[in-house]
Amino acid sequence: MAARLDLDGQVIEPLKICMIGAGGFIGSHLCEKLMWETQHSVLAIDVYSDKIQHLLEPGQSWSSRIEFHRINIKHDSRLEGLIKLADLTINLAAICTPADYNTRPLDTIYSNFIDALPVVRYCSDNNKRLIHFSTCEVYGKTIGSFLPEDSSLRKACILFFLDPSYYVLKEDESPCIFGPIEKQRWSYACAKQLIERVIYAEGAENGLEFTIVRPFNWIGPRMDFIPGIDGPSEGVPRVLACFSTNLLKSEPLKLVDGGQSQRTFVYIKDAIDAVMRMVENPQRANGYVFNVGNPDNEVTVRELALMMTEASVYTKVSGRPQLDEPTIDVSSKEFYGEGYDDSDKRIPDMTIIKKQLEWEPKTSLFDLLESTLTYQHKTYARAMQQLLSKSLPTA
Ligand SMILES: NC(=O)c1ccc[n+]([C@@H]2O[C@H](COP(=O)([O-])OP(=O)(O)OC[C@H]3O[C@@H](n4cnc5c(N)ncnc54)[C@H](O)[C@@H]3O)[C@@H](O)[C@H]2O)c1
Repeated sequence: MAARLDLDGQVIEPLKICMIGAGGFIGSHLCEKLMWETQHSVLAIDVYSDKIQHLLEPGQSWSSRIEFHRINIKHDSRLEGLIKLADLTINLAAICTPADYNTRPLDTIYSNFIDALPVVRYCSDNNKRLIHFSTCEVYGKTIGSFLPEDSSLRKACILFFLDPSYYVLKEDESPCIFGPIEKQRWSYACAKQLIERVIYAEGAENGLEFTIVRPFNWIGPRMDFIPGIDGPSEGVPRVLACFSTNLLKSEPLKLVDGGQSQRTFVYIKDAIDAVMRMVENPQRANGYVFNVGNPDNEVTVRELALMMTEASVYTKVSGRPQLDEPTIDVSSKEFYGEGYDDSDKRIPDMTIIKKQLEWEPKTSLFDLLESTLTYQHKTYARAMQQLLSKSLPTA
């Protein structure tokens, strides 16, 4: 394998990376990239290993470079030792499914703040670099969304639609605007924001070398689970897996509160390239918070559902006919329970990541949906048919 060069043309020495949450969606793609394309090694920590099992099978050319540690970081004294052994820690571990934020707010806050604290402390105490995964949810809602429906400013759409400074989110300028405490949806964003502040303060007061990543809806194969097949039947995954489950069952896609929220989606492989640049270019990434998203892939959740159901994507990959009724509306209270709320519009500003890491996303929304749904169909269609036939009443 040829030596890898950083963005300034210097040879990159092999690193030992302690990756916490390595068994999840993002971790599995990052581990693949590290094993298949670099000479870096990974101490992979998680409670689950299914999504990286293919990398852990013995006898592969990278086998000596990946070591799995089945550890729950809530209570395991081995964590600090593993962080000490590594050059860099990447923390991905989190409860990060919207269905949990208002129904399990304490678990959400503990996971995203309390459990992350020792990781930050061990990195700081042992002078180890940290890449921490936060979220675009730290931006909360747009300023415009708080204007009364009938205010003249909102009517004139000056704030909302014409002036991007009110909705394009900048790492170092945009405020973090959450709803009231009763809206427990914000437990996740608030916990993530507080741990970002701790990390930033450790950098300022104790010299911690850190990078904070704010993902904007990364999408691709292995995201979440399909309820009843590789996750609990009553589980509610993130939007893409929810919609995929509906498609696999040939039932209408459930649109929460009309699917009016606007989101940008980025393909996991583009996003992993951004993370690799952070890993291999500490001189350009340390001390920064980075938005990682694709501002060109913006749609409302309703439009996303229609793209997935219309002839353009799912019928193409599955060969199945279009659904007669592509979507049905459900209220957020019915779908997520009491205390749910949502961000209205989130567009990442890309200035900092473009300048520091020379990174830009490449994959269009259509292409990323096509490749993700092809994977979902190949992986789950047969198991879903079996599951549905079992649940049919017998004559
Ligand atoms: N995927 C996205 O678009 C997105 C968006 C915003 C933020 N993020 C952030 O990125 C990170 C990774 O997200 P993901 O999509 O890969 O989620 P994921 O749920 O697929 O992965 C998280 C992994 O962390 C592990 N984990 C959780 N608690 C743990 C504990 N106590 N001990 C050991 N392992 C534990 C889980 O088992 C899981 O494998 C999270 O911090 C999330 O908040 C992701």
